[in-house]
Amino acid sequence: MDRVSRFLIIGSGIAGLSFALRAAKKGTVNILTKKEAAESSTNYAQGGIATVWSGEDSFESHIEDTHRAGAGLCHTDTVDLVVRDAPSKIRELIDWGVRFTRRTGKREYDLHREGGHSKRRIFHAEDLTGREVERALLERVRENPKIRLFEHHAAVNLITRQKIAFDRRHPDEVLGAYVLDQKTGAINTFVADATVLATGGSGKVYLYTSNPDIATGDGIAMAYRAGATIANMEFVQFHPTCLFHPHAKSFLISEAVRGEGAVLVNRAGKRFMEGIHQMKELAPRDIVARAIDAELKRTGEDCVYLDIRHKGKAFIRKHFPNIHKTCLSFGIDMTKEPLPVVPAAHYQCGGVLTDLHGETDIPRLFAVGECACTGLHGANRLASNSLLEALVFSDRAFRRASEAYTGKPRPRIEIPKWEVGEAQEPDEAVVVTHNWDEIRRIMWNYVGIVRSNKRLFRALDRIDMLRREISEYYWNFRVTGDLLELRNICTVAELIVRCALQRKESRGLHTTIDYPYQDDEHGRKDTLIRRYPA
Ligand code: FAD
Ligand code: SIN
Repeated sequence: MDRVSRFLIIGSGIAGLSFALRAAKKGTVNILTKKEAAESSTNYAQGGIATVWSGEDSFESHIEDTHRAGAGLCHTDTVDLVVRDAPSKIRELIDWGVRFTRRTGKREYDLHREGGHSKRRIFHAEDLTGREVERALLERVRENPKIRLFEHHAAVNLITRQKIAFDRRHPDEVLGAYVLDQKTGAINTFVADATVLATGGSGKVYLYTSNPDIATGDGIAMAYRAGATIANMEFVQFHPTCLFHPHAKSFLISEAVRGEGAVLVNRAGKRFMEGIHQMKELAPRDIVARAIDAELKRTGEDCVYLDIRHKGKAFIRKHFPNIHKTCLSFGIDMTKEPLPVVPAAHYQCGGVLTDLHGETDIPRLFAVGECACTGLHGANRLASNSLLEALVFSDRAFRRASEAYTGKPRPRIEIPKWEVGEAQEPDEAVVVTHNWDEIRRIMWNYVGIVRSNKRLFRALDRIDMLRREISEYYWNFRVTGDLLELRNICTVAELIVRCALQRKESRGLHTTIDYPYQDDEHGRKDTLIRRYPA
């Protein structure tokens, strides 16, 4: 099996697959994915992809909405290039075979609206946009002879020159990754000219999340261990409306439901977004999630309600067939009753810091999609800008990687095999499950929507202790997929808390009672964190 390729891509969501399809024109591509290929946040995306398309819309308006949501921290150049490149990326998806929803009986595409957007500009495939995108991209990937897809292969660590050779004559660079074959338990070496992290987000760091199980922040943790700069981890986006039901695993109720007229009410039936923001239920997500949090604390209730009954059964079933069906499976008919909803962790706005070409500060290492921090989202992501960012940056990263690195000779270096050493078979799985649960509870209770210094320090103390325990376990026992993920969520939890402690103001998704105001004089900059001082 050939573990050497021009491009090594870790992750098979929209970022990894779209990079792979481009890269295959230039050379061989290996894609690693830790479960079945389709299992990714991409596959669960509902609302869609934002782009300026209609004649009534403009780039300026999408740019302004992105900046407004981002609370003064978006990078102007990144926002500009992403928004202006969006229509061409939608066309590319259509060429790859993605079937977006059209207006009934018309050729035009049906555009939805979501929170923070001042115009209708969301391309969607009913209310299962991600599944359609993932289907089409995977089909293209599977029929491409230049691309090899390794399912059930979890990247463990990046291989850096400094780590294996202590070679100070050459600047550090990434040579590939050590990878756990989850079926055999072996750890193999994958080598490439350019390595791309496309590992998605880290919602599983929190007890309640809209994210699938793969979202354990592996790429961010690996990049941090390798010495890359990580940015803005304090900005964790909580989606305002996830289904409140014991068996629903925080199933997402798309913001498009509010975009089509749903209102938020409390148990008494009173709308509470009026008076909080002029856009009411369509205010940016941080504002809506905070308002729900405040309403729950004020009333002592477990949930609030999302009511779209006034649109009628036919409309609801046509626009939101999957949401309607899924809610019915939990015994809730949204055409007849309001949906009980609560916020849950949804999106990591920070990540591995990249330049405008998706390159990190370690040469030959790229980060694309949710694991990256490109400057697009600032302190709060605008709805449906994430799939878009992944498409735009996978293109930019591919161009840079192929120009700068592929096929260029580099000093020969012998990569040692993964050292198993004295590691034994894991003896106490309970340690993993207990620590997993504890980290996620700590994050939910102490590092949630509204924070305080006292709670952040308390969280840091406990995470420090868990880190030491997990590290000891990690080095003494054979690596398993669960242990890897546990170690990674612990690292990401620590990064979130450390970044949160650095920011001495409230901005966007980071709200703290100790610094309740936005401080434009000192706070208008990214929070940067690095394992090794530069
Ligand atoms: P993902 O799609 O999450 O893919 C990550 C991949 O990396 C997976 O294949 C995973 O298995 C793999 N992986 C992770 N770690 C490893 C490892 N160690 N080794 C090997 N493989 C690994 N955004 C929008 O713009 N519009 C929406 O409508 C929208 N709706 C959403 C709805 C839901 C329920 C959720 C959860 C998110 C939604 N988002 C939406 C956000 C968006 O879906 C994600 O940000 C985006 O899909 C991330 O794409 P990605 O390719 O970066 O990562
Ligand atoms: C949603 O459909 O509400 C999710 C959209 C997003 O996360 O961008």
